[in-house]
Amino acid sequence: MMAGIAVSTNINSDNAEFLCHADETLLDVLRDRLGLMGAKEGCGTGDCGACSIILDDRLVCSCLVLGAEAEGGRIETVEGMAQGDQLHPLQQKFLEHAALQCGICTPGFLIAAKDLLAKNPDPTEEEIRFGLAGNLCRCTGYDKIVRAVQDAAGVMRGADHEF
Ligand code: FES
Ligand code: FES
Repeated sequence: MMAGIAVSTNINSDNAEFLCHADETLLDVLRDRLGLMGAKEGCGTGDCGACSIILDDRLVCSCLVLGAEAEGGRIETVEGMAQGDQLHPLQQKFLEHAALQCGICTPGFLIAAKDLLAKNPDPTEEEIRFGLAGNLCRCTGYDKIVRAVQDAAGVMRGADHEF
């Protein structure tokens, strides 16, 4: 069956247009049509956060959004976090704190943490744990992730530009 719906969006500050089926998820569009493989499919039912993206300044599970619903939307994915070869502070701190093992959950955590810090630049540990509660990791035990986010938050508060 031919893809039928034409959708115009902005992804990581670039205009992006695609065709999709009416029942196709935004996650599938990102991965299969646009080659943005950062968002992962863990569960497909909104329970794991591996597919997290930011759509119009809201953190969403892209497995629960239809591609067609992104019409006119502004999308941020993990691919947009680094600037050239300069990692985002969250990415840098995840590496330094060994906050990833298999890495399946990592793009989702990074995007969720970016959204959290945009709304709360100086979160407590409890606020970080609450803010990332929609993201599951079966490898790290979460403590390293929380420390990486705390550390990155400090770097970002001290920076002279926004991330
Ligand atoms: S794949 Fe979307 S929440 Fe798990
Ligand atoms: S690093 Fe493996 S699921 Fe989080």
